[in-house]
Amino acid sequence: MSEQTIGVFDSGLGGLTAVRELIKILPGEDIVYFGDTARVPYGTRSRDTIRKFAMQDLRFLLDKNPKAVLVACGTISSVALSDLRAMTEIPVIGVVEPTARAACNATRNGKIGILGTSATVKSQSYQTAIGAIDPSIQLTAQACPLFVPLVENGYLDHPITELAVKEYIAPLQEAGVDTVILGCTHYPLLKPVLGRILGDHVTLIDSGKEAALALAAALKAQNQLSSAAEGQRRYYVSDEVGNFSHIAGMFLNQNIDGAVEKVSVKTDD
Ligand code: DGL
Repeated sequence: MSEQTIGVFDSGLGGLTAVRELIKILPGEDIVYFGDTARVPYGTRSRDTIRKFAMQDLRFLLDKNPKAVLVACGTISSVALSDLRAMTEIPVIGVVEPTARAACNATRNGKIGILGTSATVKSQSYQTAIGAIDPSIQLTAQACPLFVPLVENGYLDHPITELAVKEYIAPLQEAGVDTVILGCTHYPLLKPVLGRILGDHVTLIDSGKEAALALAAALKAQNQLSSAAEGQRRYYVSDEVGNFSHIAGMFLNQNIDGAVEKVSVKTDD
């Protein structure tokens, strides 16, 4: 048993897709969330910048003495996971491996599509992870740089979002995929539009949810789950709390206004 908190972070709101799942499956756990809303998006930046930001974010969370950290960001998980793991002894779980496994289990025709940020697609992280599981699977990857700003600005189900979705999924539809990885944790917030346009015959794999399930399994295997009935949740952001609280509250289906605080992460390296 461990009553220590679980750390979760992302460049912004996306990691809440993992938090929502964690609250559902592990309601007794304390969670400390950090969203780097002052520097979002990460996915259009260089590897070096993403790595530097991610290490600063993790350092902030490690000061909260967590028992494990969930890197609830496809971009960071794709380009900086080994750097982050080198910073601490506690488990640091990324989204790519568990999501790749879930997609391989879900596909029936062996054709999987990946939607992710430019950095995630460029890193080929999903190609590597899926290739290791089943090299016969055919992958079609598409970068969707407009999705993160749409989510951060609350355009979750809007005609502008529909247009962007249609544009980005065209190559996946052409390839005949039956499974689509929402490889950026922001994208499950667009699930209603994505599901509607892709249709029922396509299975959507939510990377935030799969990562949360992997973290829960890791804590259980190490006998590190909390014995509390109801956990406390704190949310930290690096920019204004208002926009984050509003969209996060809607997505988590609860008012979190009093639990959100603006902080500065140390950027002196
Ligand atoms: N949620 C992040 C991801 O999973 C968003 C990246 C971004 O900030 O561009 O990739």
